[in-house]
Amino acid sequence: MRAVLLLGLLATASAVHLDFSSGTLDGWTHSDDGKYEGKFVVATPEGLDAVTALKVPEKAKHYGISKLLPAAVDPASDLVLQFDLKLTNGLSCGGAYIKFVTDEASFTPSGLKDDTPYTVMFGPDKCGDTNKVHLILRHKSPKTGKIEEKHLQSPPFVETDSKTHVYTAILRASNNSYAVLVDGEEKKSGSLFDDFEPPINPPETIPDPEDKKPSDWVDEARIADPDAKKPEDWDEDAPREIPDEDAKKPEGWLDEEPDEVDDAEAKKPEDWDDEEDGDWEPPKVPNPKCKDAPGCGEWKRPSKPNPAYKGKWSAPMIDNPAYKGVWKPREIPNPEHNKDPAPLTNIGKVGAAAIEIWTMDDGYFFDNVVVSNSEAEAAEVREKSWAPKKVIEDAKEAEEKAKAEEAAKKAEAEAAPDAADDDGDDEDDKETEEENKAEL
Ligand SMILES: *[C@@H]1O[C@H](CO)[C@@H](O)[C@H](O)[C@H]1NC(C)=O
Repeated sequence: MRAVLLLGLLATASAVHLDFSSGTLDGWTHSDDGKYEGKFVVATPEGLDAVTALKVPEKAKHYGISKLLPAAVDPASDLVLQFDLKLTNGLSCGGAYIKFVTDEASFTPSGLKDDTPYTVMFGPDKCGDTNKVHLILRHKSPKTGKIEEKHLQSPPFVETDSKTHVYTAILRASNNSYAVLVDGEEKKSGSLFDDFEPPINPPETIPDPEDKKPSDWVDEARIADPDAKKPEDWDEDAPREIPDEDAKKPEGWLDEEPDEVDDAEAKKPEDWDDEEDGDWEPPKVPNPKCKDAPGCGEWKRPSKPNPAYKGKWSAPMIDNPAYKGVWKPREIPNPEHNKDPAPLTNIGKVGAAAIEIWTMDDGYFFDNVVVSNSEAEAAEVREKSWAPKKVIEDAKEAEEKAKAEEAAKKAEAEAAPDAADDDGDDEDDKETEEENKAEL
């Protein structure tokens, strides 16, 4: 595969393709800043024997490394950024993005810092539920000169399996569009003017930050009708319920009988001591005479809802004639408004590629960093340098899946030999049937 990787270097002048096929850092230089305790190494990813790539060897460290490009790449005629990333142990919390450093004479790789100005920051970043493939442009307003980070909204998700994936960002100067590809497939695309936040071209007006809600502003959309009066015949004191005068005491009601009587069969226990335990009283039992009667004891007339009940009177609600709507501050002209017709001419040229990250994971590999003006060139590198890795990793995955299925089958057979035997026979039969069909 090494020969295949080298082909990628034969791109035209504006294309930069950085790989680690030499087995060395190849000019990538660690920052001198003491913050970056993590040091990248060049190593072979598991299962990709012909590849050497830039590896994060230790978790829970800051890393800072960069390499100057042989010549600055100008986004004014499109910018295509791409790299391979393999997350051997996944990405639980950390960055795996590349900062495409702005071309400035003062920049040296050993001087890389967390605030080194970049033109584009692109790539995976994940922690807990936050999972995004960042695409951030540092755009300089042609009107105010202010530089602001413009973030792609709702960016694509990171591929977190352990296979090698290739991330591509395309910024087109021709029609001010962008696209993010993962493994050559477009995951998100649109207009540079619509999908970034804050917007590359700030709006014409903004809500006036000085404007305040007047103290007499009326917030209530509905009010109790002040003209409404309680009707004369509205009796607020009428009770909710009244005795049901139509109810009659059921025939056979035993007014004189209590609900419970002393248990005639109970006997005072022999060891009962009147002096210590007090006077013995037999326990109570339901009065047997009440069992077949409709009721015992005093009969009480039931209640029923009072048809005259109205409750407390309140005025009906009406639209508030004084209501002016939800208060909003007035719009004023936005001093930062601009209409940059060519924002890619205001993000700077790319002079270096930098990996400036912190991560809680280890074992990830960067490779095949591309900085180009051409989508076709990036596609060519994908085809020649990433596709062969995919073939190997897909084959390995299929092999492992087959092995796991085989092992599961074996375990099942050992657990229930008879049943498994039958299953095996059935499948053999099916296979033979299918083979026969195929031959026909
Ligand atoms: C911009 O042009 C490219 C091809 O050059 C095309 O694929 C893309 O759809 C266009 N995008 C917009 C938003 O016009």
